[in-house]
Amino acid sequence: MDFSQSKTKECLARAFAGVCQDGARYQFISKSALSEGYSYIADQLKTIAKNKMAHASVLYNLMLKNMEDGGDNVTIEAGYPFESQLLRTSLQDSSEIEKNEGKNIFPHFAKIAQDEGFEEIENALTLISEVNIRNAEKLAFLAQKFDDGTLYSDDKINTWTCSNCGHSEEKKEAWDKCPLCSYPQGYVVIPEE
Ligand SMILES: [Fe+2]
Repeated sequence: MDFSQSKTKECLARAFAGVCQDGARYQFISKSALSEGYSYIADQLKTIAKNKMAHASVLYNLMLKNMEDGGDNVTIEAGYPFESQLLRTSLQDSSEIEKNEGKNIFPHFAKIAQDEGFEEIENALTLISEVNIRNAEKLAFLAQKFDDGTLYSDDKINTWTCSNCGHSEEKKEAWDKCPLCSYPQGYVVIPEE
């Protein structure tokens, strides 16, 4: 199959555009989280943004590698979600977006690459879809804790750690202000279940 005539080329371009836009969106949400005082969550979102740009780099390089006529414009048509940047809603919205990318969009693109014989592209798209599914789970977990008001409390004893100074304590609720560095509660690492 000639790459320039393939559906894989368009899928790769759409995937690239999608992860770039995701990367931008996570940077915006991370800033919102920081301004709302949720520093640890802001760091998590910043990490996802960084992951997205790494995915963008992989996809971009695959495009260049397969294009005989590098530098070509690739025209795509794709929908893109514009969601609220408020942390309360964006965690759940982002989880749904990641889930859709991980379970539907990227596997669909990977199948097209497989059918057309582009194994390296299929593999990258599949591995990215797996990251998206893990992101979806992580964001859904944070969204649930946020909605329940249990980000910093639990009905069982947890190890709470300050992401700034590393101080930690085992108790049911995290501190309002770190006893060591005085940084606020938003810096507390939210234990994953
Ligand atoms: Fe601290």
